[in-house]
Amino acid sequence: MSTPAAIETARLVLRPFGAADGLDVQRIAGDERVAREISLIPHPYPDGVAQAWIATHESSEAAGRTFVRAITCKDTGALLGCIELARTGFLHSAELGYWLGVDHWGQGIVTEAAEAFVAWAFKKTSFERVQSRHATSNPASGRILQKIGMRREGIASRMLQGLLDHCFDQIGLHRIWAETFVDNEPSRRLLDRNGFSFEGVKRQAYLKEDRYLDTDMWAMLATDPRPWKEQTS
Ligand SMILES: CC(C)(COP(=O)(O)OP(=O)(O)OC[C@H]1O[C@@H](n2cnc3c(N)ncnc32)[C@H](O)[C@@H]1OP(=O)(O)O)[C@@H](O)C(=O)NCCC(=O)NCCS
Repeated sequence: MSTPAAIETARLVLRPFGAADGLDVQRIAGDERVAREISLIPHPYPDGVAQAWIATHESSEAAGRTFVRAITCKDTGALLGCIELARTGFLHSAELGYWLGVDHWGQGIVTEAAEAFVAWAFKKTSFERVQSRHATSNPASGRILQKIGMRREGIASRMLQGLLDHCFDQIGLHRIWAETFVDNEPSRRLLDRNGFSFEGVKRQAYLKEDRYLDTDMWAMLATDPRPWKEQTS
């Protein structure tokens, strides 16, 4: 396996993570102000999780699934944050994600990193589309996407409708299911409004921050009504 490339910008080096970064990742991503914005980052951040995560990077990149880079300071070499592209269900498309240590917020660092990383990905990977999402309560993240030239495609509703039409009509799927944490009211409303039916509660299947969490199970069939089509016909 070849070593994943490093990418340089004016102030930064985006390099592969190494095992020695584990404690810094735990400290930076484990900060509550970072962890609360990203569902996959636990808080408190348990020992060993960062090292285990870093150990997956090389094989995942070799398989074309996920491309992860440490955002580091060119002058000092210090680890500042993380940027990644993860392949979506479609081979040509990837989702951009990032986090930055709170001491470095507001200096244009993630904008600089994201611009270079996406340009690199379009040249060096098979991705032809990069997408991203942010909570409406996190406008700084939306501003980064806007500054690097992304177009706003809309709130999740329109994207979801397009994806459902594609999966049912082009791919021929019969059933699509979704799962939300029970207290995620915006997600619940999104699914309900777009024709998903509530199927029940999966009890305590997830563990986050030392709490077991229940999830709501939702599903939609190809034969179910699609409310957005009824509204426009
Ligand atoms: C969101 C985050 C990545 C921003 O990183 P950053 O390096 O500080 O971002 P940048 O400085 O490159 O750009 C932030 C932009 O948002 C703007 N911004 C900041 N707070 C804002 C707010 N409350 N409302 C509107 N815009 C805001 C900044 O002014 C800046 O825009 P500008 O250059 O036009 O002035 C960082 O705060 C973070 O890691 N947060 C926690 C994890 C996270 O949210 N990840 C993304 C999940 S979708």
